[in-house]
Amino acid sequence: MALKSALINVMDGAARKAARGLVRDFGEVEQLQVSRKGPADFVSAADLKAEQILRRELERARPGYGFCLEEGGVVAASDGRHRWYVDPLDGTTNFLHGVPHFAISIALERDGELVAGLILEPTRDETFWAEKGSGAYLNGRRLRVSARQRLVDSVLATGLPYHGRPGHELALAELDALMSRVSGIRRFGSAALDLAYVAAGRYDGFWEHGLSPWDLAAGIVIVREAGGLVSQIGGGDRMLEKGDILAANDSLHGEIAAVLREAGKSCP
Ligand code: IPD
Ligand code: CA
Ligand code: CA
Repeated sequence: MALKSALINVMDGAARKAARGLVRDFGEVEQLQVSRKGPADFVSAADLKAEQILRRELERARPGYGFCLEEGGVVAASDGRHRWYVDPLDGTTNFLHGVPHFAISIALERDGELVAGLILEPTRDETFWAEKGSGAYLNGRRLRVSARQRLVDSVLATGLPYHGRPGHELALAELDALMSRVSGIRRFGSAALDLAYVAAGRYDGFWEHGLSPWDLAAGIVIVREAGGLVSQIGGGDRMLEKGDILAANDSLHGEIAAVLREAGKSCP
């Protein structure tokens, strides 16, 4: 059983508090599906409420740390060293449609380096967490990325652009290039959980474009601490700034990257 550090306990406590509200609201959403107005406004309110709780709890435990919040934007750190990345509800579309696959994602950056990540999936009560240098865990169990070595045996996850988002052609070219070479491709609708599942060896890899830092920060730490490789799709380490990511076990990362890069050439 892994012993959580004081820092991970702070993140876990904040996530659990916010998750209680989300779970209650998710129950309501299931009722609202059938109403004519639908649950959209209700879900935005749930999202905001969760973020407020997370901010309050993290601020109380670690005064002086800054924030990069999905809803609230950037709050400068008065200590000049620390920043939390917070996605209060990753998988909003699932939540809105009553699909129980969503998460809270929290990461901590210290002196420009990601040092801790925690992703809580409340409907299955799964908490994925990692601290730099101390390994990655699911609840109390140590995580390792998968050992699969052949692309043909692999299951990959991705995210697809939708109405109003760019990149449809590229996404189709990438799917076209990969789907005949793998065992399956999944689009489950939560980038944070996609990364957590790579860390847990459930998926062998995950790639997506156009993400935001709060989608990625916690998952990056967790995958790396589980022994996986994380980079931009074309190589490089600027995932948080650029928003594209490829995470996979070390046997498959290079091969997936090569297929994606080749597919990308057809979409300037
Ligand atoms: C979204 C999810 C989704 C990804 C989107 C993200 P949200 O986050 O992570 O899987 O494909 O691009 O924006 O909006 O549910 O927090
Ligand atoms: Ca998100
Ligand atoms: Ca969100």
